[in-house]
Amino acid sequence: MSKLRVAVSGVGSLGQHHARIAAASERTELVAVVDPSEARGREIAEKFGTSWAATLAEVLPSVDAVQIAAPTGFHHLIGIEALAAGKHVIMEKPLAASLSEGEALLKALRLAQAANPKLVAAVGHLERFNPAVQALRRLGFKPRFAEATRVSPFPMRSMEVDVIMDVMIHDLDLLLALWGKPVMSVEAVGVPVLTKYADLVNARLSFEGGGFATVTASRVARKKERTFRAFGENAYASLDFATQKLEVLRLVAGADGPEVVPEVVDIVQDEPLKLELEAFYTACQGEAGETVSWSDAFEAMRVAEQVQRAVAKSLESLQ
Ligand SMILES: NC(=O)c1ccc[n+]([C@@H]2O[C@H](COP(=O)([O-])OP(=O)(O)OC[C@H]3O[C@@H](n4cnc5c(N)ncnc54)[C@H](O)[C@@H]3O)[C@@H](O)[C@H]2O)c1
Repeated sequence: MSKLRVAVSGVGSLGQHHARIAAASERTELVAVVDPSEARGREIAEKFGTSWAATLAEVLPSVDAVQIAAPTGFHHLIGIEALAAGKHVIMEKPLAASLSEGEALLKALRLAQAANPKLVAAVGHLERFNPAVQALRRLGFKPRFAEATRVSPFPMRSMEVDVIMDVMIHDLDLLLALWGKPVMSVEAVGVPVLTKYADLVNARLSFEGGGFATVTASRVARKKERTFRAFGENAYASLDFATQKLEVLRLVAGADGPEVVPEVVDIVQDEPLKLELEAFYTACQGEAGETVSWSDAFEAMRVAEQVQRAVAKSLESLQ
């Protein structure tokens, strides 16, 4: 099979890893990296044996797919440009900076897929590819109550969006995927600390058909923590995204009454971004490759927007 020709748009903190993986994959040829910063673009191009371009328009005729890892505020413009040229796209999360930009992307996708139904559009919700999360999903674990925590020191980037769209969106997407049901109601509180947007947020979601989750996201914490705990019917799961560890306890009937029994879960540790991109390349080449759809990513944005509204309301009480 011929190699998928790809370009990476935006090779900053995360995009450099997109370039590394595209350069190393047996499925792809990294045709170019695109970045308005010549110094950064040339540095990454040289490191991964490819060329640099200042604009996507220059490279579009020579590629089949575009990996977009530019700042979130540019996602819709770059995505629409790539789709209009008929290219497969994987967009970093969040899909877009706002619901209206997300809708513009979905509209462009509908048009592009009308012309080519095989066109692949994926989103970089990489926690779905975390081996610990995949193990949890394989168990068919259905949560009734979940608690997600995702906190880190201030990153000094992604300052054009709040912690909800930047960080909490990972857990919102995951919760929607695990529950398989829409969110029914949202309560949330949050405050800006170092930016003009909310930097620290706690939200409580309830799902259609039952079940609740509390989600905490902060980019002003002293230490990093990315964890998820959930109670299902007669089962408890505790997951650490960073170490890719998953602990499952089941409540079973023992000889002398109920017993809590640990379940051994096989996890083969791997890099989530690599798994996510390989799944995208596989899908682009027409083989079965499970990717996160733009409609799923838009749904996570819709919940994020409800959290934003609840936070804005909570802030009124501070004034
Ligand atoms: N999936 C994840 O876990 C994860 C983690 C980090 C970042 N991200 C996402 O990746 C994206 C980039 O984040 P980052 O932290 O790497 O940002 P960054 O600021 O480190 O890098 C962005 C790069 O894009 C370049 N750029 C700016 N405008 C551009 C344009 N119009 N076209 C192409 N490139 C352009 C910049 O010069 C820079 O090199 C964001 O959408 C962010 O939400 C996702």
